[in-house]
Amino acid sequence: MTNWLERSWFGRERENEHVPWPLARHAAPVARTARQELNVNKPSSRSIYGDIAILEDRATSIMTRNFSVACERNREPILAVLRDRLAQCKSVLEIGSGTGQHAVFFAAHLPHLVWQTSDFPDNHASIDAWRQETQLPNVLAPLTLDVSGAWPGKSFDAVFSANTCHIMSWHDVERMFDGIGRTLQAGGMLCIYGPFNYGGAPTSMSNAQFDAMLRAQAAHMGIRDFEAVNRLAADQGLVLQDDIAMPANNRLLVWQAET
Ligand SMILES: C[S@@+](CC[C@H](N)C(=O)[O-])C[C@H]1O[C@@H](n2cnc3c(N)ncnc32)[C@H](O)[C@@H]1O
Repeated sequence: MTNWLERSWFGRERENEHVPWPLARHAAPVARTARQELNVNKPSSRSIYGDIAILEDRATSIMTRNFSVACERNREPILAVLRDRLAQCKSVLEIGSGTGQHAVFFAAHLPHLVWQTSDFPDNHASIDAWRQETQLPNVLAPLTLDVSGAWPGKSFDAVFSANTCHIMSWHDVERMFDGIGRTLQAGGMLCIYGPFNYGGAPTSMSNAQFDAMLRAQAAHMGIRDFEAVNRLAADQGLVLQDDIAMPANNRLLVWQAET
């Protein structure tokens, strides 16, 4: 049974795995004040001032990084699928990177991929903070991508998106598939994770409750019908390869672009 926490998202789950939040919140101003009082403009890594600078950078990074409990829970099962399905791919566009946690986790475990993050500008600071924390060479700085707006001029041989179809409006889901159709190279892979209805019905009571909660929160949100999403994919020449049951009543849908 999925509870609300499993479904909740990073806006409500800001916390940190290493440093208690109240401590992290105070660390940056303390370090900054210390540097100012000591009149240290250019910290040296060989001195206490270097340590203060490191503390300050680390605290800033901790405060900027959003954290999603759901991401931590679902990343291993998703990775197990991506490892196999994206084995031949080189470049991935992630749509709606959110906190940035998925990007750094998958990129760390799939070093043959160059992972292009994207989202609305509001989420870029967190994505960048996760990039800075992990220093992975294969995670690229986030692109501003609203699926209903302009898409990057580049093409990719894979596209990944998690928990976006039920957050964006149906109109935006349609625009997302249009954009994917233009962006995905021939033979490329599309992997979409999240909850879906089948035959017009939710797959579980918890999904039904989640759907009701989404629609009460904003009329444009709601769990999508797998069949309707698959029709959008087919219109773009994408052939369904797999529909994989995932923990907590989620699915991982895998399509391949026609060659
Ligand atoms: C529930 S969050 C999921 C974030 C992340 N993929 C995850 O699984 O934790 C939904 C994401 O979709 C993004 N999103 C919503 N509408 C969008 C749109 N029209 N274009 C691009 N991204 C959108 C949001 O900014 C947010 O990052």
